[in-house]
Amino acid sequence: MLISFQNVSRFYDKWPALENIELTVESGEFLVLSGPSGAGKTTLFRLIWMGDFPTSGVVEVSGYRSDRIRKGDLSNLRRKLGIVFQDFRLLSERTVFDNVALPLQVAGSSPRAVRKRVFSLLAEIELSHRRSSYPHELSGGEQQRVAIARAMVAHPVILLADEPTGNLDPDVSKQVIELLLEINRTGTTVILATHDPRQIPAGTARYLYLDKGHLANPVSWDGYNQL
Ligand SMILES: Nc1ncnc2c1ncn2[C@@H]1O[C@H](COP(=O)(O)OP(=O)(O)O)[C@@H](O)[C@H]1O
Ligand SMILES: [Mg+2]
Repeated sequence: MLISFQNVSRFYDKWPALENIELTVESGEFLVLSGPSGAGKTTLFRLIWMGDFPTSGVVEVSGYRSDRIRKGDLSNLRRKLGIVFQDFRLLSERTVFDNVALPLQVAGSSPRAVRKRVFSLLAEIELSHRRSSYPHELSGGEQQRVAIARAMVAHPVILLADEPTGNLDPDVSKQVIELLLEINRTGTTVILATHDPRQIPAGTARYLYLDKGHLANPVSWDGYNQL
């Protein structure tokens, strides 16, 4: 078990953003989390990277428990996680290369190791030729691929993608989804929040549906037709 939510609720004032969540994620899974705006998807992600903590219940991620983790261990936990957001969040004054390299540089990797890893990732996302460009010179789809490369650069165990295609056209979204599937095929656990679970072909993932802070029982891709 890589992630578990044990009867987790998160209240903001009196309102539950998440209520009585029970969830287990195994290593290597591709989990698709959908549900309307305000359902609690981002809150669930925030509890996984422990940028926020449950009001009650326990979240456990890769051996770290939300009720016992020490401040000093938060960075150790986050080193196991890659995170991708809807709005890319690249650093505008840094080149593509430097954006992807940053996490490794911060971790103190040698310049040689950084170059090797970043070049390899840029080749994977087919943007080697754009390594000296700045984010504003790239299309949205290209920026999101760079953001995914940055999230993957330190070999995380889990990739959290919070509506990564929310700002992208359908054909570009497809490329981003393909990249996430490829990342999962190489062993990384992927959790994707999306408004459109049909982006992910049936049979490749486990589908969950959040509504008003409640998790529906796992449904099949076809199950969405009934929701
Ligand atoms: N920091 C916060 N303070 C107060 N309310 C919040 C906060 N974060 C989220 N919420 C509320 O929790 C609910 C779930 O939000 P969120 O997790 O962002 O949903 P989603 O990502 O599915 O759109 C919403 O009603 C939202 O207004
Ligand atoms: Mg959200």
